[in-house]
Amino acid sequence: MQKIAVYPGSFDPVTNGHVDIVERGLKVFDKIIVAILHNSSKKFLFTIEERIKMIEESLSGFSNIEVDAFDGLLVDYAKKREANAILRGMRAVSDFEYEFQLALMNRSLNREIQTVFLMTGLRWIFTSSSIIKEAARFGGDIEGMVPPVVNRKLKEKFGFV
Ligand code: PNS
Repeated sequence: MQKIAVYPGSFDPVTNGHVDIVERGLKVFDKIIVAILHNSSKKFLFTIEERIKMIEESLSGFSNIEVDAFDGLLVDYAKKREANAILRGMRAVSDFEYEFQLALMNRSLNREIQTVFLMTGLRWIFTSSSIIKEAARFGGDIEGMVPPVVNRKLKEKFGFV
């Protein structure tokens, strides 16, 4: 049986921390479906099409990856895609409480799907999409924290090119 993981998130935008988790995840799973949250009450900077394109370009060096959008319950999407696991990255202790709640809720909604946490590389422990957006909004240098395509797109979005 193929080990398939869904790696869900807002990816608004994808960061090098996300890419790192995909790379680590591919050592554990046969296939990873990067699932981007689509319709939600959350307000996103990038459209779903922009987020898909940026992830596809950022992960073009990997095989056994699929990029998709989802809405509704994550566990329903995972079941539909015949995934055995939900993959999430864990940075610092501050991530723990939210991740713990999410994992337990997902488990109570569907006991067949396991949440697997992988630890981000130390280099990415302080980065997050929101903090990167905040820096980029005011012209901060975020090179090396995000894939080149994302750096370009953030500069365009905030009018720095
Ligand atoms: O990158 P994020 O924003 O931390 O990802 C959050 C995400 C997409 C994993 C979470 O919001 C999610 O799974 N949303 C879909 C609805 C759902 O199933 N929520 C969890 C049970 S209430």
